[in-house]
Amino acid sequence: MQQVETISEMRHAVADARSKGKGIAFVPTMGALHEGHLTLVDEAKRVAEVVVMSVFVNPLQFGPTEDFARYPRTLDQDAKLAEDRGVDLMFTPTQADMYPEHAPVILIHPGSIGKEWEGAVRPHHFEGVLTVVAKLFHIVMPDVAVFGQKDLQQVAVVKAMVRDLNFPVGILVAPTVRDPDGLAMSSRNRYLSPKERELSLMLSKALFAMRDAFVRGERRASALEAIGWRMLERVVGLTPRYLAVVNADTFQRVNSVRHGDAAVGAIRVGETKLIDNIIF
Ligand code: PAF
Repeated sequence: MQQVETISEMRHAVADARSKGKGIAFVPTMGALHEGHLTLVDEAKRVAEVVVMSVFVNPLQFGPTEDFARYPRTLDQDAKLAEDRGVDLMFTPTQADMYPEHAPVILIHPGSIGKEWEGAVRPHHFEGVLTVVAKLFHIVMPDVAVFGQKDLQQVAVVKAMVRDLNFPVGILVAPTVRDPDGLAMSSRNRYLSPKERELSLMLSKALFAMRDAFVRGERRASALEAIGWRMLERVVGLTPRYLAVVNADTFQRVNSVRHGDAAVGAIRVGETKLIDNIIF
């Protein structure tokens, strides 16, 4: 695996692969890799000869009170995991290289898709995500980029950006990887104490209960949301942030639930904020 730090080295490496007629699949990450990220690599390898992974903790997508400073940075371990899984090129730009003026003047706005849910509890988060993803797409110029279903609203805003701004990039979405007890894998899980981890499990349990009720025939979003809310509200030490049934493309709330709609939820346990979702 080749590891490159500067934007010009990255462009050069990609141009080299392209000149040999190779297709490029891209897995953008913020590092602290876990099996969820590595399944994105598997998906990328399935569709292209060259897999590029970026590791960049993007300051622009963190709010002033969020965990940017303490976000886990485990680059040596990430490089080993990425190489073992078959990443060809790892791009680890510095903040100075990505944001030479500290913050860009031009930002990409997520519009109505990014307004509610994560967009509401994390103002400007999706602006930060879309701006860095657009920059990375321009640097890496991939044919395809792979994102995880775990960040479903991120997937929706990225797909809309690609569509509305004509990026020549296909977007693939890989299913959420879960621990055996159902907890969705996340780099932030490592913040959890054993007790907090146990409490956090209720989010996936609530989402699974909503899905079970849908399978049994319940189609009213309000009834499904009530099932989930009842489960989250009774857990002492867990603060529900939102739980809703939405259209998975527009992220607008639905009344009558159809296959392909999603239940999205977020909780806070101690200092840790976690999100998860299921698709009906
Ligand atoms: O999903 C993430 O890890 C980040 O939001 C991304 C897409 C790498 C942008 O910083």
